[in-house]
Amino acid sequence: MGKVVILDHPLIKHKLTFIRDKNTGSKEFRELVKEVSMLMAYEVTRDLPLEDINIETPVAETKSQVIAGKKLGLVPILRAGLGMVDGMLNLLPAAKVGHVGLYRDPETFKPVEYYCKLPQDIEERELIVLDPMLATGGSAVAAIQFLKNKGATNIKLMNLIAASEGLEEVSKAHPDVDIYVAGVDERLNEDAYIIPGLGDAGDRLFGTK
Ligand code: PRP
Ligand code: URA
Repeated sequence: MGKVVILDHPLIKHKLTFIRDKNTGSKEFRELVKEVSMLMAYEVTRDLPLEDINIETPVAETKSQVIAGKKLGLVPILRAGLGMVDGMLNLLPAAKVGHVGLYRDPETFKPVEYYCKLPQDIEERELIVLDPMLATGGSAVAAIQFLKNKGATNIKLMNLIAASEGLEEVSKAHPDVDIYVAGVDERLNEDAYIIPGLGDAGDRLFGTK
């Protein structure tokens, strides 16, 4: 079973409160999503392998550690996942970015795929799937399956807010995938929105309705 890591650092909790607040406008919402994503990147990359290299400081030769050439890929689920990309790239500037376009059918809540463009070598990369919301889990399960069908074997999922139901769905369908979340919420409403959640992440990021 994959692990579920809840990133309950005070900075993340503080920023998440204002992300949730309906009075936070799109500009601030975007900035906060970017900042929380950057803070989460710190933990999501904790297990990256290191290697020693020889360097010279101004006063001595020494061995020091650098990341061991791990190839990373970020895969935002369109649209709302886009809001998390810049924060991640701030800390992982060499990562490649693939895009998977999925929207949730408003009647069935099932994901519908409409776009996909991935780095060619995804089977060699550690992929981090980005989406602010994990509600029923349908979109994440489909996106991860899609990446696996294209050859990916090393995948993590990163969400801002997850419902327990979504966590269970992803863990059941993809037990090899570790999930990183900033908050876990109580339940879904009759429209499969997370309660209390933050509303529609895509609409709040992009100012649509
Ligand atoms: C939202 C969200 C997730 C999905 C979560 O996207 O960004 O992708 O719903 O719901 P699920 O876990 O029940 O699948 P949405 O379909 O609203 O598309 P958008 O990002 O284009 O607004
Ligand atoms: N998608 C969202 O944007 N918000 C939710 O609460 C559920 C799905």
